[in-house]
Amino acid sequence: MAYGSLAWSLSALLGLLLTPSLGLEPPRISFPLESPERPLPLFSQPDIKNTTTLLLSDDGSTLFVGAQDAVLSLDVSQPDVITMKTKMEWKPPPDVLHECTTKGKKETTDCPNFVRVLQPINATHLYACGTFAYNPHDTYMDTDTLTMAKVPRKYNNGKGCCPFNPYQRNTAISVDGELFTATTNDFLGKTPMVSRHLSKDGRPDVSQDTSVTLNEPTFVSSASDTSEGKVYFFFSEIGNEYSFLDEFKVARVAQVCKDDIGGERILQKRWTSFAKAELLCRPPKELPFNIIQDVFTLAPSEGYSTQDIIFYGIFTSQWSVASGQSAVCAFRLGDIKDVFAGNYKIFQNHQWSPRMYKTSNLGKCGLANASDTTLMAVKESFLASGSVRPIGNAPVLNSPDQRYSRIAALRTKAANGQDYTILFLLSESGFLHKAVLLNKDTHIIEEIQVFRQPQLVKNILLSTSKGVLYVGTSEGVTQVPVSQCSSYKSCAQCVLARDPLCGWDPARGHCASVSAIPANARQDVEHGNVMECQGSLTAKPLLVEVHAQLNEVVRLKCSRSSNLATLSWKSAKASALPHHLFFHSGDENLVFMATPDTFGIYHCISVERGYEETAAIYTVSFSPQAIDTPAVQFRITTTETKDQMTTMMEIPSDTDQLDHINFGEDPVITTDVTTTDKTPNTNSSTEKPEDMTPDPLSSSEKPEDHNEPLTAKNYHSELVAVSFLLAVCVCVLVLGGLYGCHLQGRYKLGPSDTAEGGYKEENDPLEVSPPSIKKAE
Ligand SMILES: *[C@@H]1O[C@H](CO)[C@@H](O)[C@H](O)[C@H]1NC(C)=O
Ligand SMILES: *[C@@H]1O[C@H](CO)[C@@H](O)[C@H](O)[C@H]1NC(C)=O
Ligand SMILES: *[C@@H]1O[C@H](CO)[C@@H](O)[C@H](O)[C@H]1NC(C)=O
Ligand SMILES: *[C@@H]1O[C@H](CO)[C@@H](O)[C@H](O)[C@H]1NC(C)=O
Repeated sequence: MAYGSLAWSLSALLGLLLTPSLGLEPPRISFPLESPERPLPLFSQPDIKNTTTLLLSDDGSTLFVGAQDAVLSLDVSQPDVITMKTKMEWKPPPDVLHECTTKGKKETTDCPNFVRVLQPINATHLYACGTFAYNPHDTYMDTDTLTMAKVPRKYNNGKGCCPFNPYQRNTAISVDGELFTATTNDFLGKTPMVSRHLSKDGRPDVSQDTSVTLNEPTFVSSASDTSEGKVYFFFSEIGNEYSFLDEFKVARVAQVCKDDIGGERILQKRWTSFAKAELLCRPPKELPFNIIQDVFTLAPSEGYSTQDIIFYGIFTSQWSVASGQSAVCAFRLGDIKDVFAGNYKIFQNHQWSPRMYKTSNLGKCGLANASDTTLMAVKESFLASGSVRPIGNAPVLNSPDQRYSRIAALRTKAANGQDYTILFLLSESGFLHKAVLLNKDTHIIEEIQVFRQPQLVKNILLSTSKGVLYVGTSEGVTQVPVSQCSSYKSCAQCVLARDPLCGWDPARGHCASVSAIPANARQDVEHGNVMECQGSLTAKPLLVEVHAQLNEVVRLKCSRSSNLATLSWKSAKASALPHHLFFHSGDENLVFMATPDTFGIYHCISVERGYEETAAIYTVSFSPQAIDTPAVQFRITTTETKDQMTTMMEIPSDTDQLDHINFGEDPVITTDVTTTDKTPNTNSSTEKPEDMTPDPLSSSEKPEDHNEPLTAKNYHSELVAVSFLLAVCVCVLVLGGLYGCHLQGRYKLGPSDTAEGGYKEENDPLEVSPPSIKKAE
């Protein structure tokens, strides 16, 4: 056995010395906290803390919240506001608090009553359990008034239903009015317990013979399969079957039969149906993600059996050397059942025997009257030999830089009728990521910041019927609509989002929920191909006029519509420009010095998935006054733009910029001089300064003498100032570049010019209207 184990561990170790998996693109759009495009109703009150246990009423109008020393009911029937209906205080009395503090616990952080279980128990009452100063208590509450019913249970004691320690995790699920729980069950938090409470029809409560079967578990989630009368628990624990790897954790699923009443002589009031199995979540050739953080149960689509219930689990790794921060694996209930129906390992004399039990009654329901021999076998064989493999044998998502901790999922029909699964992933840093599982990979549609501070305890609750996700933290309860299609302002943005919930309605000319579009919704979830939008006009950007004095530093802003877009700048004054005067600051803004040569029109071009659009247009012109004259905005007309932009130059993006700032060689610049015109021949007022102002700089500036471009004596002091500014910018850029490299190591950033080979057509003259649509691939 030892040799076999060693061989296994060696191969496991060799397996990990391989390259990390391919990166995941960053979320396409980021919404910081309180961003106006994605308003999130928040319920928060200074005297209400730790609102982390969430339960939605059947009709979806009331959210019950377990908080610190209180249970609340919130009115969530309005889409844009959450209000409090009722608050029921539930505090430990002074003597209980005193006892808690004398045991060395802190009165304000450890000893309050943190309500950790809220479950519906019948049509009129909820069941609630709280840590109650390290002395778990439970109660029933009327759902309308939250008044506590007289409690029939002995001593009002919630032992075994929720933990003593509020920082330990637990899970509970009510099935037909009975309560199934998994929690630690002692002051030190060392004794785990899986049990049934509130048992009906006079049958006994049943619990787990804990000392042997579980090893320092952390329970994260539970689910029930009513068709087979089984309840499943998800947790991580120390996998002592891997005795050669010290403290090696494994992710597990455990089952019990809901109607189990224990054995007659052996296993009295103990589960006869308890069995556990390992859940594998391991990318090919990498270390396993062996710690499970959360599980969401996704019901099968209509017409499918319960075998197709899918459990989406978030996993992290025990080792910091693992390539990724977290991963999502999906498990089919049918596969879990197959493993529980297979062979079992045998635990004898405190160790795992190399023998196995072939299936007999193990893992089956209805062993109440089974023979003593059968029950002895049950006692020593509770670990399935097989492991549960995820769908596709690999994670559906492997994030190199996000540590996800909570998950929810929904299935939806896209405009083309295909089903897609959307995952909502809450990151440790306070962002909710919305990801769609595509046929081949995963696309993160958006990230929404939902809280400020990292949260030790938090929860999310999805209501698919309401299209809303609730996030409960110590900061309050936030309501997040699953989609906000109206935040996409053009057909192109709507299609590029690749959100199965959103499509462009060509009749009404807006991006809307797919279910609300009667016909011809424009959408391409798999490829985000903007060809879908042919015929739907894109809004043109406003022309912004900027007035600058000579030798002032001009900064033109361009913001991305998406984190996946690449921005570049183009100017009409191609060959006349001393290129080294331009550079991009780290945020893709264009910075240059105002000279007669640099007055003119600038376009910021955004390219995403081969689709090119103008993100901003500026005209920079001479002004004898200060630079910060309020910019005048007006719509640029098509003809004007076309005239002026026939000769274009692309200002190189930041990959080349260090050259420019060195004032060294003439930088390599891609000019796309497709016509012979040098200067746009217009009588536009913005061109006037060039004609009128005497120009000491441009006269001394031949392309050959770029080494000394800034020597004009009558501008000496200004130039010193500008040089200083440029030096500052160099530093910023170098730092920015380093940071960029760092980022690139973490993400695959948006498409780069070289990598995409012809994906982006640089040499085309810009056409602003109609929008130039370039097909990807
Ligand atoms: C629900 O349970 C509570 C507590 O056991 C009980 O008082 C109440 O009568 C029950 N209501 C119904 C409709 O069964
Ligand atoms: C098990 O035994 C009890 C009495 O000991 C009996 O009432 C019950 O029907 C038996 N159950 C089965 C499944 O045989
Ligand atoms: C309660 O909330 C506070 C912040 O207000 C947080 O520091 C603490 O960890 C929370 N405690 C529990 C048990 O959730
Ligand atoms: C510019 O305007 C002047 C009169 O203001 C006109 O004579 C000239 O033809 C115009 N040039 C062009 C190229 O339109």
